Amino acid sequence: MPTVIESHEHVENNPLHYMPEPYRIRVIEPVKRTTEKEREQALIAAGYNPFLLDSDKVFIDLLTDSGTGAVTQGMQSAMLRGDESYSGSRSYHTLSRAVKDIFGYQFTIPTHQGRGAEQLYVPALINKRERDEGLDRSKMTALSNYFFDTTQGHTQHNSCRVVNVPSPNAFNTSVKEYFKGNFDLDKLVSAIEQIGPQHVPYIVSTITCNSAGGQPVSIDNLKAVYEIAQLYNIPVVMDCARFAENAYFIKQREPGYADKSIQQITKEAFQYADLLSMSAKKDAMVPIGGLLAFKNDDYLDVQLECKTLCVLLEGFPTYGGMEGGAMERLAVGLYDGMDEGWLASRTGQIAYLVKGLEALGIRCQQAGGHAAFIDAGALLPHIPPSQFPGHALACELYKVAGVRGAEIGSLLQGCDPKTGEQLPCPAELLRLAIPRATYTQAHLNYIIAGFKEVKKRAPFISGLQFTYEPKVLRHFNARLTPVV
Ligand code: F0G
Repeated sequence: MPTVIESHEHVENNPLHYMPEPYRIRVIEPVKRTTEKEREQALIAAGYNPFLLDSDKVFIDLLTDSGTGAVTQGMQSAMLRGDESYSGSRSYHTLSRAVKDIFGYQFTIPTHQGRGAEQLYVPALINKRERDEGLDRSKMTALSNYFFDTTQGHTQHNSCRVVNVPSPNAFNTSVKEYFKGNFDLDKLVSAIEQIGPQHVPYIVSTITCNSAGGQPVSIDNLKAVYEIAQLYNIPVVMDCARFAENAYFIKQREPGYADKSIQQITKEAFQYADLLSMSAKKDAMVPIGGLLAFKNDDYLDVQLECKTLCVLLEGFPTYGGMEGGAMERLAVGLYDGMDEGWLASRTGQIAYLVKGLEALGIRCQQAGGHAAFIDAGALLPHIPPSQFPGHALACELYKVAGVRGAEIGSLLQGCDPKTGEQLPCPAELLRLAIPRATYTQAHLNYIIAGFKEVKKRAPFISGLQFTYEPKVLRHFNARLTPVV
């Protein structure tokens, strides 16, 4: 048995309350401090939208954990092995071997990032139903535990509706559960029955479930979803940007998995899907890259259509959106991202931050992977959803501490494309996503200290209204001003 101080699982009992980061930092990017006055001006110039701030005006950048983290020495050196052949490069085969080994998937298409994979499989699966079964795509609905925004966007762009069937307490920040990212299986079945299985072109299992607060999905649930899908002849796509964090939580929480390795758990989980679509910028640790892969030839026609679309949209299917060196780096990143000590430290950072915020009386979604999700609706009850409490909190945190986060609430949710009405939103959250191996405990303490001040100011924080409201994906480019 490891001693308390050696074991990552006993961070709680560690008198230092924190396991030192299990790596040495060898390359640094200097950042500038700014004054509150400068930040106030920057915020006005950015139309009260942190997305529009220049990064040199940001002290701690928690906008996303996507492509913003450190890479390992192994990944960096692998880039030198890149074979830049247009077709059939050695580097493609290295990447495709890693995908076979880790996930058990036989055919790989590299893409420039996650949405690159989505723009291939989404139309191909919808076309299949339209072509093979003569069905009308406007009657189709895809299902998920919760669609990430680009997956939802690609689906809707192909004239197919989306419905989410998250577990009942997924967005209730006062409830703690091991697998809050799970599908509600009863709702999944009744949605399929109601829509008609032939009109469901695919089911997306999102692991971890980003929109529900980086919450894990159990193997048990993934298996049950796959069995239901097979019964109704519906393909399952694993949207797996954070596959390693999900496997780590399964190891910690699901009976029967404590003695299995992250790689064994991953292999088992991926049996329960037909395709995988990955933004490799998260758990695979690369600054840019993505994957689309097929478990076997069951969907050979879809595979062939994806290859053709790839030539049009991404590049030849043996490099997709990536150069040889980037494919070599990703092949190593897939393995390095599964290191258990690393995952313990990473998820430990999120747990530490959430614990520190909760100690201030700030309600958060229970700690999951990749980010702390603060319940802005609870902290700012005087701001109605129509004035975006999560976004107002993001602006105040930036003003106070130079820390940039992102709203996950009504602003992100957007409006119904047909009626123009605000879509209902299950929670008003502020996401603080932690880039991999980039920030230290001192940064986390600084963020917590920033929140102490934000909490004091909370009753005086104003809601926001648009001065410019884009029709789609509005949170990226919207400009706002405080409601007076
Ligand atoms: N699926 C999930 C679950 C994601 O979290 C993301 C990206 C994508 C697909 C799209 O991948 O960005 O590589 O094109 N999430 C980022 C985030 C942007 O900040 O959570 P991409």
